[in-house]
Amino acid sequence: LNYNVSRERRYVLEVLLNGLRRLEYRGYDSSGIAVDADLPAPPAPGSAPPAPGSAPPPYAGAPPLVYRQEGKIENLVRSVYAEVDEKDVNLDAAFNVHAGIAHTRWATHGVPAPRNSHPQSSGAGDEFLVVHNGIITNYEVLKETLTRHGFTFESDTDTEVIPKLAKFVFDKAHDGEGDVTFSQVVNEVMRQLEGAYALIFKSPHYPNELIACKRGSTLILGVNELSGQKSGKSFNDVKALTANGKPKELFFSSDLCAIVEHTKNYLAIEDNEIVHIKDGSVSILKFDHDKEKPASVQRALSVLEMEVEQIKKGNYDHFMQKEIHEQPHSLTTTMRGRLKDGAVLLGGLKEHLKTIRRSRRVVFIGCGTSYNAALAARTFVEELTGIPVTMEVASDLLDRQGPIYREDTAVFVSQSGETADTLLALDYALENGALCVGITNTVGSTLSRRTHCGIHINAGCEIGVASTKAYTSQIVVMAMMALAIGSDQISTQARREAIISGLFSLPSNASQVLKLDSEMKELASSLIDSESLLVFGRGYNYATALEGALKVKEVALMHSEGMFAGEMKHGPLALVDENLPIIVIATRDACFSKQQSVIQQLLSRKGRLIIMCSKGDASAVNPRGSCRVIEVPKVADCLQPVINIIPLQLLAYHLTVLRGFDVDQPRNLAKSVTTQ
Ligand code: G6P
Repeated sequence: LNYNVSRERRYVLEVLLNGLRRLEYRGYDSSGIAVDADLPAPPAPGSAPPAPGSAPPPYAGAPPLVYRQEGKIENLVRSVYAEVDEKDVNLDAAFNVHAGIAHTRWATHGVPAPRNSHPQSSGAGDEFLVVHNGIITNYEVLKETLTRHGFTFESDTDTEVIPKLAKFVFDKAHDGEGDVTFSQVVNEVMRQLEGAYALIFKSPHYPNELIACKRGSTLILGVNELSGQKSGKSFNDVKALTANGKPKELFFSSDLCAIVEHTKNYLAIEDNEIVHIKDGSVSILKFDHDKEKPASVQRALSVLEMEVEQIKKGNYDHFMQKEIHEQPHSLTTTMRGRLKDGAVLLGGLKEHLKTIRRSRRVVFIGCGTSYNAALAARTFVEELTGIPVTMEVASDLLDRQGPIYREDTAVFVSQSGETADTLLALDYALENGALCVGITNTVGSTLSRRTHCGIHINAGCEIGVASTKAYTSQIVVMAMMALAIGSDQISTQARREAIISGLFSLPSNASQVLKLDSEMKELASSLIDSESLLVFGRGYNYATALEGALKVKEVALMHSEGMFAGEMKHGPLALVDENLPIIVIATRDACFSKQQSVIQQLLSRKGRLIIMCSKGDASAVNPRGSCRVIEVPKVADCLQPVINIIPLQLLAYHLTVLRGFDVDQPRNLAKSVTTQ
């Protein structure tokens, strides 16, 4: 880039804009950024000193440069560089410390528009700027009060009350006793905010400082170049960092993916913590509603186990494609170290297995694909543990305030560990005294921190909005969980052994089924103009039907429904004609003959069928040879959903590409839905 910006500022801009690109997968509709502007020029040598009594400069630093844009990150990138270039800002301004903030927004309050993008501002001069993840529930009351105090609001967001409240607190303190520190301002703001949030504040009143705080939403601090300090050790009151020299770079982020290329040393900030960065040193304070002053706290850094490659596409065109093809590997890492000598070792559950065995029922709770994974596991969990399993879509459990008891084991399934509905359902289950187990792909996520115990699926960072490898790893984790819970039952021992050897064979069978790629591409091209697609499954593979249809719906933007094959006669049969494509899953298990008769009934109504069957069964399911058949490798019946979903993932992927839609960021969807 050949823009007229100083090296430091350009570097900060690039780190921030690239960080936003890394978060693109989470879904967004607008974005914004604020970086330091040049400091006011010092008085020229020999110039007259300011007249005694003349007004001091309004605040210490110059107002930051702020840019906000609607749409793709590249729109923001273009506008930033165009404007910076146009304004011809001081080329060589060097900053000892340069503090910038940036944000991608997924609209909740107010349409996507520059004025609704973050950073939100306190008003003219941008005295306080805030980026926010989450929702402020009492923003209307705060807005009313601030309006009465003369503030005018420019956006429709809930966030705008935060910088305005900060300015109000700041001005009030200045009118009274005088000085107020940045952390005192933020502490007072936190006192008044209700809802869930992760916030970062920037202000020219406090040049070289940034404040981050959180309640509910996730926030990570990354620390680069520890000057001799090793991560993993306690860095007492992080100020110790600066005793031996300042860390070079500090990062706040809502997701480790945005910082992994800069550092692996991180700290998951906890609820009610206020992290204050000043002149490159860090202090962590704990907010307490009953005390006016926050207390200083000590925390230790963790080391991130993630490789930068995980957040890059490598030789693939899209993340979804990469993640589908990665499944032989991700399934292996999910099982690594957990299956030994015919036994299942799940460190995160060990202490709680007895309690789980005694529970009256297991309740699975999740949203979207994670719910479907739990549904795929339901039957074998019941079979191997003897405990009844009920299924709950998180939002529906909350809507109904459904019964959850102390004797229940509530299992929360979430790739991100941050889905708002799932976390609220978790709060609800905790209040009702259930034992809460988390199954997540995200180490350090809210789910993993708030549950009593759990299992990480270890599938590696998943970036495509449409979940693929996390789905198959979730099922495998639940299979291992069922095996561990049921490990005291003699009557099911032979069955358990068969499932364990089935688990070992999954990665190679996943590699086999991936060879159907070009066949699925060809199938996709035959469906490209269809308006609708039905998927029929039953038993272990009812979940496969739901999940396959969800994939097609969410990325290929084609109407698609997964249905119980057993319900076909009770409604869906009316839709059948020679045009509507119908996928029937008829791999070998106890339901096979029933699926054969479903196929016959559909064929006698001239149904346009695509049949998925076990290898070698083509003529058994398609005696007239009139249907398209997808043959998949046969594995233990209860693990078959892990294999069967893969061709449907490939189909959804190719349909999306052929239909010309955005694979990794489907319209209107977000990877982590952190709002209710
Ligand atoms: C969103 C995503 C889905 C995901 C669901 C649950 O709807 O678009 O892909 O399955 O959230 O997410 P979680 O992170 O809780 O598994």
